[in-house]
Formats: sequence, C-alpha cells, structure tokens
Amino acid sequence: MPSRSSVDSTPLIQAIGLTHDFIVFGGLIRALSDVALTVMPGDAVFVLGTNGSGKTTLMKALAGEIVCRKGQVQMVGQSLHRLPWSHRTKILGRLSQRPQDNLCSTFTLDEMINLYHSNRIFSSAVKQLKEEMRNAGMSHTQRIGDLSGGQQQLLALRLVLSREPNLMLLDEPTSSLDFAHTELFVSILKDAIRPGSDRGLVYISHRVEEAIDLASKIIFLHSGKIIGQWDRGFFPTVSQFYQMYSQPHRDYLGERK
Ligand SMILES: Nc1ncnc2c1ncn2[C@@H]1O[C@H](COP(=O)(O)OP(=O)(O)OP(=O)(O)O)[C@@H](O)[C@H]1O
Ligand SMILES: [Mg+2]
Repeated sequence: MPSRSSVDSTPLIQAIGLTHDFIVFGGLIRALSDVALTVMPGDAVFVLGTNGSGKTTLMKALAGEIVCRKGQVQMVGQSLHRLPWSHRTKILGRLSQRPQDNLCSTFTLDEMINLYHSNRIFSSAVKQLKEEMRNAGMSHTQRIGDLSGGQQQLLALRLVLSREPNLMLLDEPTSSLDFAHTELFVSILKDAIRPGSDRGLVYISHRVEEAIDLASKIIFLHSGKIIGQWDRGFFPTVSQFYQMYSQPHRDYLGERK
C-alpha cells in the first residue's frame, strides 16, 4: 500500500488511450475508443452517457476486471496490472448497479459485515456499522437476500466506505432506489467526499442533476468515445445535457457554456 503522501501527490487513477472491443457473433463491438481519465485526490468525476456507450466497460477497465486491447491504467502511479490484488482492494471501493453483485445473498446482515472486516469484527467501527443498519430498519439476523433492493444498496455503500478506500468506483448505484433511499445514499456519499477529503470518486449515473450537484468534473460518453468533458464552473445546464442524450452525435468537446 503506498504511503498517504504518495497518494496525495499522484493521480489515484489515470487511464490513457483505452480502446476495447468485445467479440460477438458476427463481428466486434467497439465499447471504448481512446478514452482518457484522470482522478486526483478530492476529485468526484461523474460519467454520463447514452445506454451502451461504454460506461460500465470503462469502470471494469479502471477496476482491473478487464484488460483493454489498447491503452493503460495506472493506479497511484503504478501499472494497475502490476499492483497485487491485495493492494488494489485496499485502495479501491467498488459498487455495481445491481445490489446482488455487491453482497452475498445467503449471509445474514451480521455475517456480511463480519466478512468485510474479518480481522476486526469486535472493533467499534463494526459495532457502529451494525447499529446504523439496525437503526435503518434492518435486523442483524435478516438474510441479505431478504433485504429490499434499497436496503441492500445502502448496506453495500456503508460497507465499501467502512473500509476507507482511497478511490470509489460506483456504477449507477442509485438506479433502483426510491427518492428517500436516494437522498440517504447521496447524503452518505456527500459526507464521504466533502471538501478537503482526499478520497477520489468515479460515479456513473443517468441522473444529470445529481452529477451537477456533486461532481468536480463530468465526462459524457457516446459510442465508446468521450464527446464532452467539463470542470465544475463550466458544466452545461440540465437541458443542455438532455440535448446531448437526444443528439449524441454532435461533438461537444471544447464547447463551453
Ligand atoms: N461482455 C460483453 N460481451 C459483449 N458485448 C459487451 C460486453 N459487455 C459490454 N458489451 C457491449 O459493449 C457496449 C458497451 O456496454 P456497457 O455495458 O459498457 O454500456 P453502458 O454505457 O454501461 O450502458 P448502460 O447505460 O445501459 O449501463 C454495449 O454495446 C454492450 O452491448
Ligand atoms: Mg452500464
């Protein structure tokens, strides 16, 4: 695990020239085309884009779950694929769109929390986490698979955060949540990335307002390519983003509000 100071002065993750094809019956699907992304400590990079534009593929490439045909990913200054899994899992917290991918459905709530913290199950942090989940209406003996989708996703977020990752990769984590659960999820997340935090975030979303509210940088993907990217202060309006979804073939790169 790199020291805190090396984490602070180096991008948490940097992707350069990511290009990836999937081989399917009858040909190739170009899922990513020359995609570049840098996340510094404190950055909250939101990835918007049309369905099938390559967002989840990008997330998998950043997490090291797929190796792209071209391009490189560096995590805290080292080639991702040279970093042992044990180091990557200390740096990374990953949440997928489907709660069942983030948790073990046959475990009870307490077993799941204990598994995440196998060497410190009696610590105050774990006790507090169990308490918090009980306060949110979950029972310690309830099986994960019997929790509602929203409860599972909240638990998954709290579990990921409780390991204090340097970098969080979240793929549409609120897509199955109702308004109240989304609000709660976003407030937990806001606290985790509050100004001054040196944590980094990559967040895939279709919720434009959420991106405008929370992001320090927004990128927009279509057909595997970045068609627009903006820093806070230069974000398009909600209606301009909606126009991008309906006219994604225009090149928005370089355009400024
Ligand atoms: N394992 C795979 N095998 C074949 N094709 C794949 C695979 N994974 C993704 N694809 C294809 O790659 C393209 C990008 O998919 P991806 O899941 O990255 O899109 P996305 O932007 O996350 O879409 P959504 O908003 O619907 O979640 C799509 O055309 C998809 O069908
Ligand atoms: Mg996706």
